[in-house]
Amino acid sequence: MDMDKLVALCRRRGFLFQSSEIYGGLNGFWDYGPLGVELKRNIKDAWWRDMISGHNELVKPAGAPTTYEMVGLDASIIMHPQVWKCSGHFDLFCDMMVDCRETKHRYRYDQVRGRWAEYQGLKVFVTALGENEAQDIEQRAQKLFKLRAKEADKITWHGEIISLAKVEDLSKALAPEATEPGTLTAPREFNLMFKTIVGAMGGEEDAAFLRPETAQGIFVNFKNVCDSTRVRVPFGIAQVGKSFRNEITPRNFTFRSREFEQMEIEFFCHPTTSRKWYEYWRDRRMKWYTDLGLAGERLRLREHDKDELSHYSVGTADIEYAFPFLSAGEYGELEGIAHRGDFDLRSHMEGKLVKNAEGCLEVEMVDGADGKKVAKHRGSGRDLTYRDDLTNERFTPHVIEPSAGADRGTLAFLCEAYHEDQAPDDKGDMQTRTVMKFSPRIAPVKAAVFPLVKKDGMPEAAKEIYTALKKRFVTFYDEKGAVGRRYRRQDEAGTPYCITVDGQTLQDGTVTIRDRDSLEQWRIKSADVVEEIAKKVEG
Ligand code: GAP
Repeated sequence: MDMDKLVALCRRRGFLFQSSEIYGGLNGFWDYGPLGVELKRNIKDAWWRDMISGHNELVKPAGAPTTYEMVGLDASIIMHPQVWKCSGHFDLFCDMMVDCRETKHRYRYDQVRGRWAEYQGLKVFVTALGENEAQDIEQRAQKLFKLRAKEADKITWHGEIISLAKVEDLSKALAPEATEPGTLTAPREFNLMFKTIVGAMGGEEDAAFLRPETAQGIFVNFKNVCDSTRVRVPFGIAQVGKSFRNEITPRNFTFRSREFEQMEIEFFCHPTTSRKWYEYWRDRRMKWYTDLGLAGERLRLREHDKDELSHYSVGTADIEYAFPFLSAGEYGELEGIAHRGDFDLRSHMEGKLVKNAEGCLEVEMVDGADGKKVAKHRGSGRDLTYRDDLTNERFTPHVIEPSAGADRGTLAFLCEAYHEDQAPDDKGDMQTRTVMKFSPRIAPVKAAVFPLVKKDGMPEAAKEIYTALKKRFVTFYDEKGAVGRRYRRQDEAGTPYCITVDGQTLQDGTVTIRDRDSLEQWRIKSADVVEEIAKKVEG
């Protein structure tokens, strides 16, 4: 699939716009247009319904160790700064970056890639960004060594394309947009949290952060939820909301944005069953994507190797999608399912934790003013343990965290939906059509209603059907232009069903329904349209 075509369709049909476009745009920020907002809302609603509001705590789902409860939460975006100190984000939520002294551009150290090239004793690590990196690296090397295209074979290449992070001597690197090697600074840490000021004073003591993940809002409310509801471990708290990360190189459409939405669950369970719960959530979340239409080779589940795991995790799996903007064989993360142990609840009780020499978590200590050791970042001091009222056992629950990106999910569903095929036009000639084959459940518009012509009472009959459908589904009414063109517009919007009122409707009260994917058309009574669409969309 051609990514440029999808990006153009998203803009043309109102799925996605660059933020602040009339002022030249703001890198890393996106706006959802009228179709996009419905699509993303449907994805978030499906997640909420399937994971939380529709969950039946009386029935054990297939693969789950026991029955369990699910509740929701909506925490604030700005929280007490101590939250981020104890969670580790204040000290550790950093990417390494390098600056180019020539172009003044900044890059994520690990995302710049290149290859060693040598000509007449000069060896340079030539880099390039973007999809055609191999070709761009070759062309940049030729330009650097002042060679013509037919002299390209005079360059000796060493090794494969690798990350800049593997290059020891940066003075030998040609930065992505520079003309000479040796313009990159040494790598430095860059914290990804957006800083802001709370209140009118504006001093450093009033500094706060926009949350980089929704998860911490759940951990700091763990006790509130336990005390205010009758939930018992095992149970999950879920939240959907905006998160913010000052990504050094936002890119690939909405894939890496600076403002994005997450759909996160923190599932609290007994330490002895936590591995089983991890496996359950990993498999359940994978199935959710396939049920909604992300099937086939482009979707995969990947367990992290031991050395990839976060400092607190004993197991993590990623659900990944082969986005069309990635090189062949590469996948991008849609969701991570992490076994976080008791790291988060303990951090918010005791203070920021680090691993000691034996590999156990302990509070990070620093020298205090009086020379005595004090916690680097003090915890809340609140008791965030849990007492099982049946067994009387008190313990700190372990946490399984399925953490999904709503924008990345939406982008994957957009990529998966995009198809070009052949369909007859108004004259019956086959033409290429662009069609977004969303699963009806997430399609932004569920049905469109057309009068075949704008006379003979057809608009009135069509408007009646439209009004009845509109009460239950997002429906579109269109009476402009040839009916074939109207079908094409709905195909591009991904509308699964089009209902047409024609001459026969006025005689026998039947209408045609056209299926977006099969192009099949059949007649039903207009009085049955709402139930027919409900059956198809809701199953
Ligand atoms: N609480 C765990 C956590 O936040 P993460 O892997 O950093 O884990 C979870 O983020 C999900 O959030 C990712 O799988 C991705 O879907 C989404 N996400 C993270 N950074 C993003 C970004 N810059 N732009 C869009 N989505 C992002």
